[in-house]
Amino acid sequence: MLTELDQLQAAALADIAAADDAPALEVARVRYLGRQGTLSALGERMKTLSKEERPAAGKKLNEVRTAVTAAFDAAAQGLSARAESSALVSVDVTLPGTPLLPIGALHPLTQLQDRAVQIFRRLGFALADGPDVDDEFHCFDALNTPADHPARNEQDTFYLPDGRLLRTHTSTVQIRAMETQPPPVRIIAPGAAYRRDEVDASHLAQFNQMEGLVVDEGITLADLKGTLEYFLRELFGAKTAIRFRPHFFPFTEPSFEIDVKSPALRGGERWLEVCGCGLVDPAVYDQVNQRRGDQAYDSEKYTGFAFGFGLDRLAMILLGLPDIRLLIENDVRFLEQFK
Ligand code: PHE
Repeated sequence: MLTELDQLQAAALADIAAADDAPALEVARVRYLGRQGTLSALGERMKTLSKEERPAAGKKLNEVRTAVTAAFDAAAQGLSARAESSALVSVDVTLPGTPLLPIGALHPLTQLQDRAVQIFRRLGFALADGPDVDDEFHCFDALNTPADHPARNEQDTFYLPDGRLLRTHTSTVQIRAMETQPPPVRIIAPGAAYRRDEVDASHLAQFNQMEGLVVDEGITLADLKGTLEYFLRELFGAKTAIRFRPHFFPFTEPSFEIDVKSPALRGGERWLEVCGCGLVDPAVYDQVNQRRGDQAYDSEKYTGFAFGFGLDRLAMILLGLPDIRLLIENDVRFLEQFK
């Protein structure tokens, strides 16, 4: 029995050593260590031995089982390590990764609009809205813009057959906001505006503006100046120089255009016009009151300021764009620079 066990161990170790893949190793394991395997069979035969022979044979059997089990474990480990490293050999870690689906981003104009809205939100402005297709009252009459004003010319404004029009500026929302709410008002209104302009590097027939309106007791030019200087420095940087240049708009008095200058901006060594603004003309309140049928906007009690700027123009300045049309062409090579 002892010799038999020695021979069995030698045979088992040889078989295990010869197994060069996992299935072959499993066959060897079942043959020697399995429940129907040779070692189990020898264990059964142990019962037939005499009392004197049994202890030595039992001890030997245990030694053989331990040795064969250890050899099996070592071989299994060796095989799996080999499989792993051969899998690695075929991977070229210097290859570029597999690109995932390209991930989109918000359009640069949307990003800029969101930023502008955020800044005004910090100052307590609420968002207001109005229709793109509006009427002459909201676009012109209520804004103190007389019938003979050039903006009302068919050459400048898109009219619909029914007499309505595509708003030429977002100032329409000033009127709509005041129609629906009494003072105090503190709103911004981003949106599209339309003009019959020849499309070129700095003009589009449809562009984007952001309007602002504040009406309350005791509002002065200082509020307008502080608000817009804060906004422009948040947007263009703290070192931006800001200039208020007298101008004319029918619906504000006095009126200004704002220019900015910053060496950090493309073309910023000269003054760049970015915004129209002014104190709300009392004639506008009169129109609003008439529509409302009350005296909510009492110009003896309330004053206010309004402003409007072109978002596309701000984007061009901020992003250093040479051509406004880049913003509407949807060329991915352009857009993916602003993720
Ligand atoms: N609506 C004017 C424009 O489009 C800008 C503006 C808005 C001016 C508000 C003054 C006050 O040019």
